[in-house]
Formats: sequence, structure tokens, C-alpha cells
Amino acid sequence: MTINLPLQAPSAAGLIWQVTRNEQAKTPAEREAILADPGFGNHFTDHMVDICWSEKGGWHRPRVSPYGPISLDPAAAVLHYAQEIFEGMKAYRHADGSIHTFRPYENAARMQRSARRMALPELPSEIFIESLQRIIAVDADWVPSAPETSLYLRPFMFAKEAFLGVRPAKKVNYYVIASPAGAYFAGGVEPVNIWLSTQYARAGKGGTGAAKTGGNYASSLLPQAEAYEKGCQQVAFLDDEGNLEELGGMNIVLVKRDGTLVTPESDSILEGITRDSILQLATDRGHVVERRAVPLDEWRSGAASGEIVGAFACGTAAVVVPIGRLLGTDFEIVHAGTEASALALALRQELTDIQYGRIEDRHGWLTRLDA
Ligand code: PLP
Ligand code: COI
Repeated sequence: MTINLPLQAPSAAGLIWQVTRNEQAKTPAEREAILADPGFGNHFTDHMVDICWSEKGGWHRPRVSPYGPISLDPAAAVLHYAQEIFEGMKAYRHADGSIHTFRPYENAARMQRSARRMALPELPSEIFIESLQRIIAVDADWVPSAPETSLYLRPFMFAKEAFLGVRPAKKVNYYVIASPAGAYFAGGVEPVNIWLSTQYARAGKGGTGAAKTGGNYASSLLPQAEAYEKGCQQVAFLDDEGNLEELGGMNIVLVKRDGTLVTPESDSILEGITRDSILQLATDRGHVVERRAVPLDEWRSGAASGEIVGAFACGTAAVVVPIGRLLGTDFEIVHAGTEASALALALRQELTDIQYGRIEDRHGWLTRLDA
């Protein structure tokens, strides 16, 4: 049974939300059992948010409803032409019980950039932030409090219109679902091995690489499967000039002997918010940061000469993880040194200390979600 609560007054973003409580919500005992060992992406909270968009009506009918299947017309454009975008962020519980998220306005802006590229409507930032507050308002108990756990938030949007002509859809839906999360990699913060895919690219010049859209991940799945076969946890991609791009689901940063951090700048990679934040923290510590094209050969020769002492991967799901090995078809780079790993882990510690409210949020990166 579901109960429709009375419609409320317009919210800060000018929306009137309809809230339907999930009467089959997990019991506290069931929820606690999940939160004790959430893994990543396995379990979902009791509710979800959805908002409709139409060419004529704009954004309308914002709802919080029980988590459950979405009914789609088999001709829904997303199923045929992949007009879809998403975001990934986390809600963190602080020691005083309050719930915060990290740089959500950056995610809102990135979702708008993704929307432009994928010919989807742009969701105003205030509505984006409000959608996160709405799901937390009903599912706050799902934000875990054990160290280094969080509630992963997955806003997404897709073309719902039933139409097989190839053009931007006139009916679109936006959703937020939430999933309690522990470590992304089974090894936690142990160094990961990366397979370098040279046969396959993730994105191309002028393509959709900078958008957070499902197709980029679909194209990474086959090379990612190869990575697993080679004993690697992630796959790295190059551009067609042999420059380093990024991993299937994370950005990459190289560490030089003098402490300089080097990371690819390219219009075909996802501009990571974790990377930007880590590089800001590194700059604050006095490290030089270079954002530029990074030829793979620079990594190979630098590792051989000792000029490059390590590398790390970073993204919301994995936070920051040292890279122990880059494996190519005919070469291997091994970063056994502890210095770069120690730097990666120190930056990870500082970032998570801010996210969990253990140290001062000196850059003003946190937004409270539960008040
Ligand atoms: N690159 C890709 C392909 C990703 O999927 C992600 C994760 O979202 C990132 C980079 C890192 O982005 P962020 O730090 O904003 O999570
Ligand atoms: C994220 O870190 O939010 C992502 O979307 C990456 C994915 C590997 C889970």
C-alpha cells in the first residue's frame, strides 16, 4: 500500500513535490545488514526521485516514490539511440549525524554540459540540488556511518519518448537513485593494475568523451573485460595521437620525482571533480600541477629513467588509488616505489577528511543535504 502525502507548498526551486512513501521499505534490521557490508552498486534505498520534462511543459511533476521498476515503451528513444546521461556523487555522514555532499554544483554544471552534448534538456542547478535533498529527506537512514562508507547518489536522465525517428526526444525523464557504498575496489586502497587498451578507444575527437553518457561506458566494457583477463582492475585509453586519456571510470595522474603532478588535458575525457579537488589540495601543499597532453611515451621513458615515480587513479567511486602497474601488449611499467603511493594516499586522506567533516572545509566544498 502507498500513501500519498498532501501536496506541499512550492519548494525553493519553485516545484511542488509529490511524496509517496514506500510501505514495503526494508526493516531497520534488513537495512543495517546491508549497511554492514554494502560493497559498491549492489543495493538500493527505499525511494527514488523522478521529474518529467517535455518540450511543451518544461520540467514538471517532481516526485519521490518507492524505488522500483520504470515502465518504458519499447520504442523509447533511449533504448535505440542511447540518449542518456548520468552523474555520480556521494552523501557522507559526519560525526554529529549531519549529511553532506561534495561540490554538487560542479556535478550539476557537468550534467548540464553532458545534456548539451547529448541534446537533452538542461536541469537547473537548484532543481538538481533539491532532488538530492529530497531523496535524503526520505532515505537519510541509508547514509552509513562506518568509516569510509557513504551513500552513492546516481542522478540520471534519458529520452523516454516513444519515437523511432532519429532526433532529440521531446519527452525526457530525470531520476535520482541511491546506493550505499563501501570500497569500489576489492583491495581497498591497495595499488591497482591497469591494462592499456591500444586496440580500442573509449571516445574520439569531437565525440562524446567529455559527457557522462552511457555509450562511453558501453564502449569501455569489452576492453575492460580484457583488463580482467590480464589480471588488471581497470583499463586505460589513449587518443589517436598516442596521448594518455583516462581509465574506464576514473581519471589518471602521474607523479614526477620532484613532486610535480601531471594529468591529461583533453576535450575527450570526463573532467573529474575528484581530480580537480585532489589537484587543488596538492597545489595547496606546494606541488606543481601540469594539465596538458601527456604522451604515453613520456610515462614509459619517465618510468624507465626514474623521472616518473608513480601514478594514481581518481574518481568519486574509487576516491584515490595508487597505480602499481601499467600493462601494455608489449611492455610493462611497474611502480613499486612507495613515495608516490604515499602521496596519493595522503591526498586521499585529506580529501576524505574534508568530505567526512573531520577537518575544516577550507574551500567551501560541502553542501548539507539533510537540513
Ligand atoms: N572519468 C570517468 C570516465 C568517470 O566515469 C569518472 C567517474 O565519475 C571520472 C573520470 C571521475 O569523475 P569524478 O571525480 O567527478 O567522479
Ligand atoms: C563514479 O565514480 O561516480 C563513476 O561514475 C564511475 C563508475 C566506475 C562507478
